[in-house]
Order: sequence, then C-alpha cells, then structure tokens
Amino acid sequence: MKQSVKLIAGNWKMNGSAASLAEIEALRADAGRGEWRVEVVVFPPSPLVERVARAAGGSPIEVGAQDCRAEAAGAFTGCVSAELLHDAGARWVILGHSERRQGLGETSAGVAAKVEAALRAGLHPIICVGETLAERDAGEAETVVAAQVGASLPDSLRDQTFTLAYEPVWAIGTGRTPTPADIARMHEVIRSAAAARLGPVAADMRVLYGGSVNPANAATILATPGVDGALVGGASLKAADFLAIIHAA
Ligand code: 13P
Repeated sequence: MKQSVKLIAGNWKMNGSAASLAEIEALRADAGRGEWRVEVVVFPPSPLVERVARAAGGSPIEVGAQDCRAEAAGAFTGCVSAELLHDAGARWVILGHSERRQGLGETSAGVAAKVEAALRAGLHPIICVGETLAERDAGEAETVVAAQVGASLPDSLRDQTFTLAYEPVWAIGTGRTPTPADIARMHEVIRSAAAARLGPVAADMRVLYGGSVNPANAATILATPGVDGALVGGASLKAADFLAIIHAA
C-alpha cells in the first residue's frame, strides 16, 4: 500500500557544524507539541550523523546520510559504507544526488549498486533523479529522467519500500521551480518508469520533489498531485524555515 504520510527531508549538504545541534533541539521541541502530520528526516554531513542521531533520539526525527560507498568495507580511503552509517545511527541515505552525478561522475549503475548497499545495511534509500536545463530546453527532460529511474533501481527493490526524489538540476539552489503542472507530469513519468522497471511494487513508493522548496512555495508544491513530500536543501538549515515547510504539508 502506498505510504500516504508525506515525507519532509532536509539535506544539509556540506553545511552545518556542531552548533547545528541547536536546530535539532528546536525541531525536537516543536515535534513535542504532537502536531506533525509528516515524517521528518534530516541528512547532516557524515561527521555529524552520530551526534544528530543522539540529539534526535526518542523524537520522531530520523537521521540519514547523503551518500555511501557500495562496498561494506575495504581499502577505500575517505569513503563511508552504508554499514558504518547505520552504526552511527543513520536509517536513511540519499543516493544519486545531482551534485554527485554532475560533479563527481556518479552513474545510474553506480547508484543502483549503492541502493543495494543501503538495503543490505538496513538504510532506506532516497534515489534522486532530474534533468539539467539544457536537457529540459532540448525537450529531453522526460526521456532523461525515465532513463535515470530505469537504470538506478536494482532488482532487489522489488520487495522493499523506497523513495524517489525528482530534483531538476536547474531548480537546485536557484530559487526557480517548475510549475505545479510540470512537477505533476514528471512525477507521473517517474511512477511509470519505476513500474516498468520493477512492476506493481512501484505503486508503494513515495516520490518527493526537491529544488528551491521554501516556506513560501511549500504548501503549493506539497499539494501538487503525485507529490509525496519534499527534499529540502538550503531551507532545511534553519529550524524556523524547515518547520514552516513541515507545517505546510
Ligand atoms: P535547495 O533546496 O537548496 O534548492 O536544494 C535542493 C536539493 O538539492 C536537496 O537535495
């Protein structure tokens, strides 16, 4: 059955510090009022995962990481495995973010291998897809995104719960967003591509929207057909903004 509760995810990217634990305290205090209608996950940089997980312990706030290595262990200097992240308290992981696909040469096949690793370690994957502005302008957005979905989902997702995130590259950190109609259309494309790849199980997945979600546009985006939540970057760094998005759902 499709999870009807929306998911609000905060991707801190390479931002924050130990001082950001104060933001978790503020989220926690708000959650304590018992009014959240959504699931909330924060994704701090890896060195903060354990401290954020401790700070969030016993609250509805869950913690995730922004990437993992596909292998469980080995001579991979500077990398972090899904198992280590789980050990540190992460229960989620973002995979295939465009900042890794574009900047670090991550391929959809590589993303699929990392999804396997996440499942092996007990992490829920959020798999990101999205077109560049050049691809959108060339009329290729749907083809590109459908191909990313098809190639990023391993067979082992067939009996798992998972989440996809549509993040148009041109909307990330730019203040620009697609129209609600464009978002709704692309979420349909993503659902069909996932169903073509995995079969009926894909009906259970949540599809998040990400890219310049902020307190002013969150209610409209979250009310858009086919949008099961948001993957928030910049506006997740301050509890006040993130809470406004949480309460907009
Ligand atoms: P912004 O919300 O800062 O545009 O970032 C979106 C994003 O990349 C989340 O993963």
